[in-house]
Amino acid sequence: MKENLFNSLVEGMENYIMFTIKARQLELSEGLKAKNRAPIMLSMGAPIEPVPTFVKEKTAKYLLQDPLHTYSTPKGELRFLEAVSARMKKRFDVELNPKAEVFSLIGSKEGLSNMIRALVNPKDKKEDQDVILTPNPGYASYSQMIKLCGANCYGIDLTEENNYMPDLYEVLEKYINEGNDPNKIKALIINYPNNPLGCTCDLKYLQHCVDFCNKLGILLISDNAYCEMYYDEQSKPHSALECEGAMDCCVEFHSLSKTYAMTGWRLGWACGNKKAITMLSRVKSTIDTGIFKVLQYAAADLIESAEGDKYIEEQNIKFEKKIRTFVEGLNKLGYKVKMPTTTFYLWVEIPERFENSKAFADAMLEKSGIVIVPGTGFSPNGQRHVRMSVVASDNDLAEVLKRMKEDGFEF
Ligand SMILES: Cc1ncc(COP(=O)(O)O)c(C=O)c1O
Repeated sequence: MKENLFNSLVEGMENYIMFTIKARQLELSEGLKAKNRAPIMLSMGAPIEPVPTFVKEKTAKYLLQDPLHTYSTPKGELRFLEAVSARMKKRFDVELNPKAEVFSLIGSKEGLSNMIRALVNPKDKKEDQDVILTPNPGYASYSQMIKLCGANCYGIDLTEENNYMPDLYEVLEKYINEGNDPNKIKALIINYPNNPLGCTCDLKYLQHCVDFCNKLGILLISDNAYCEMYYDEQSKPHSALECEGAMDCCVEFHSLSKTYAMTGWRLGWACGNKKAITMLSRVKSTIDTGIFKVLQYAAADLIESAEGDKYIEEQNIKFEKKIRTFVEGLNKLGYKVKMPTTTFYLWVEIPERFENSKAFADAMLEKSGIVIVPGTGFSPNGQRHVRMSVVASDNDLAEVLKRMKEDGFEF
């Protein structure tokens, strides 16, 4: 093969961090098992709870219907789109036209990446590239999706000091003062509840984001993958589409993955601004042909059902207890971890004796079989933090704490 045969943007990137970590874990697995340290996964945001029985039964029923085995459309079956509209109305009091303002997704990761692809003009040179404002720290995929599209990201620092809700006009001023061109900004990505911080924002801040994007004439991409995971009523997440003027600038991404522990089903939706949905449709209708109809019908029943809502409620009670017990355990080992208000993520400061977050994560894996993610996967200044996904069983979480104590990982 010729040199430089492949896309230089792809040549220049690495595999997604979760895959790299998984590969390393598999490589070490036998050795770890032999020393009684079989790997325990606190790396991916993949809950292991059983999915609702309701959706399994519905799927079994629809599976027997032959007409549901043919191609769907990239947009999604009307049954699914109407169920999404009904859910958005019931949960957030947001009115959506199912035919023009909702689109089915093969998981929200796919949708986010194709939305970015529909938005930016790919350029090789950094100085020419479009810019997307992204949360820092933020979901590890954003920066890679953006890079892959020949664009660039500019991190918005989410800190305890700004209560994770930074003033966007101050961010813009800083961006301009650093010599950057504001005309290059194409979108703002927000992710409340946030991966990896486990915090969320209030409706007033979402309105600030909407106003900012409308003022700049840019797209607001609201990643709401965790909107159903919250541990007190006060932190109950909102939709950005509840805000005034949101339909003029905002597209929001939802997922069934975390809400119903259905990560493997690859189901989600985009909704909001009509133009954004139309552009997403052009990309997606070119490259995919939609989701298996059986899954869409079963998912439609689920998101409309009382059984689905009950499942969410029960999961939140379970997770609250599981996370609280684990946080208490970590703090007994000397860590300073706060109970997250949303999600199942802990953003944990590492002990000083470790050189950086990668060294800590490597040691935890190699010595104790505890699989976690270095903070640098989420932020260039994540050297002193790691992310732990509290998704393992109660027994495994107790085992993690035991191993940390035995193997010298106290703070
Ligand atoms: C913030 C955030 N957005 C989107 C996703 C993608 O979820 P899915 O593609 O399963 O819907 C994830 C998965 O971890 C995530 O953490």
